[in-house]
Amino acid sequence: MLTVGAAGFITSIATKGVSIAKAADRFGFNAVPANTLDEITLPDGYKWEVMAKWGDPLFDDSIELDEKTRGDAKSQALSLGDNNDGMDLFVKDGRNIFVVNNEYVNRSIIFGNRESGLPETSDDVLKGKMGHGVTVMEVLRDDGGWHILKGSEFNRRVTPDTPIEISGPAKGHDLMKTSLDPDGIMAQGTWNNCGNGRTPWGTYLACEENFNGYFSASDASFEQTPEQKRYGLSSEDWGYAWAKIDDRFDLLKEPNECNRAGYVVEIDPFNPNSTPKKRTALGRFKHENAEVVIAGNGQIVVYMGDDERGEFIYKYVSNDRFSAAGDNSSLLDDGKLYAAKFNDDLSGEWLELNPETTSMPTQADICIHTRLAGSKVGATTMDRPEWVASNPNKAELYCALTNNKNRGIKPNAGGHKTPVGGPNPRPANKYGQIVRWIPEGGDHVSTKFTWDLFLLAGNPAVHKDDKAGSANITQANMFNSPDGIAFDSNGFLWIQTDGKYSNEGDFEGMGNNQMLVADTETGEIRRFLVGPNECEVTGATWSADGRTMFVGIQHPGEKGNSHWPDGGKSIPKSAIIAIEREDGGVIG
Ligand code: FEO
Ligand code: CA
Ligand code: CA
Ligand code: CA
Repeated sequence: MLTVGAAGFITSIATKGVSIAKAADRFGFNAVPANTLDEITLPDGYKWEVMAKWGDPLFDDSIELDEKTRGDAKSQALSLGDNNDGMDLFVKDGRNIFVVNNEYVNRSIIFGNRESGLPETSDDVLKGKMGHGVTVMEVLRDDGGWHILKGSEFNRRVTPDTPIEISGPAKGHDLMKTSLDPDGIMAQGTWNNCGNGRTPWGTYLACEENFNGYFSASDASFEQTPEQKRYGLSSEDWGYAWAKIDDRFDLLKEPNECNRAGYVVEIDPFNPNSTPKKRTALGRFKHENAEVVIAGNGQIVVYMGDDERGEFIYKYVSNDRFSAAGDNSSLLDDGKLYAAKFNDDLSGEWLELNPETTSMPTQADICIHTRLAGSKVGATTMDRPEWVASNPNKAELYCALTNNKNRGIKPNAGGHKTPVGGPNPRPANKYGQIVRWIPEGGDHVSTKFTWDLFLLAGNPAVHKDDKAGSANITQANMFNSPDGIAFDSNGFLWIQTDGKYSNEGDFEGMGNNQMLVADTETGEIRRFLVGPNECEVTGATWSADGRTMFVGIQHPGEKGNSHWPDGGKSIPKSAIIAIEREDGGVIG
């Protein structure tokens, strides 16, 4: 009964089928079949090139990546980091400043010179650390295509060791104080930056996601607090070994360091000497991206997903208003934070997180332990909220809910039930879905909304039940695990996947991870790109003239089965590709 609302919408997509043929022409390309090739596949009439890849030199004293050693800490600190994810291009005075997150490192590749596939020396550990963070780089297009302008004064690495100011409600709170920063006002570094955002005042937002995987405890007797448990902090890290060279990452030696990660970090792309800021008012969780919109009255609204099974979707609303000519520097420090509740009748509400609604002592506590605050108000546990995208043509938001094997089976990390229903209609959800909502009255500040499901991913070749997906999923466009989503200037929604690429069983016929484009008016979805082996496709942005689309190919060959992009016997490398039409036309 609970899924009827969602299913009702899906039927309505089917009834709109008559208009699909017309919409097909609007896409302007023929669908690409699924495949498992170790290359980029695009429709006829499109071409691609690598603009930048892991290890590319940024500074005059940078050196090229040595494939044998996979570099060292110094060479990595002076070059493009690994595993590019969210990205954005900023243009001023004809200069193209490209900012890209380096989410994590592929240990088996960056430490592939070691038999263990793990960091074995202090320099190895530091090399891995320097592969993380954010890269700012000037890029340009000349006769040789798009490339990095090595040595540009804009080039910068923001790493897990870069000083970052703590701003907003949590600044100076006792839980933020460490021995290196006894006032709790200046954090060191950012890591595991997944999706991103951009502000109307021209800054970049890097979103800290799986920050927990870098912490460990030097004594096995370590016991998690309930808060640490909710955030997945435990005595074991995920193989990065940072605590071996930096006490900050030892939960026993520095119990508050972990409270200083899990935020949205604002970076000025045009000032390489600026100090980035952790905007704690936007909450602490496993941030995917930060989709910023200006409400009708000028207030700034930021929509955000927390990518973990059974966690929430949030929005932040600034108290003050954006002013194109004014000072916007405190808009992300002073505002209200909400978590979403989706009702089964297709209505929804934003539940404010404040000391009264949560019984938590201060707003700072809420900004530090945001997941617990969301639970206190009864927000809806979701199927791993990934990117949120705002439709440029109307007040309408989309969020990719990538998958959730625990749906209807296991509670979330806070022990809260994850019942099947509403926008999470399938138990043990393998394929994912995209939910969309419309703010009441088209007003992003409103605390009410209506929602429906834009798609349920699935495999109609293998399944006949709800695992076949919604009516707009066919054997020609099927995929699993939607993750990155972004609207282009035409109002088409690009969908990138980070899913199972076995091409077997439940995933037979889906091939490698891919990128599709959707017409959100008709519901039609068409495959545009298939990535190389064992990659995910993530991050999208466009050149100022709309003739180049930049797309991220992350972790090709993460299990050892790719030589993309350099071919031969080369090691695989995450890369940013530039896609253009062969006729030079606009692509988005
Ligand atoms: Fe880094 Fe939720 O993807
Ligand atoms: Ca990723
Ligand atoms: Ca992602
Ligand atoms: Ca993902």
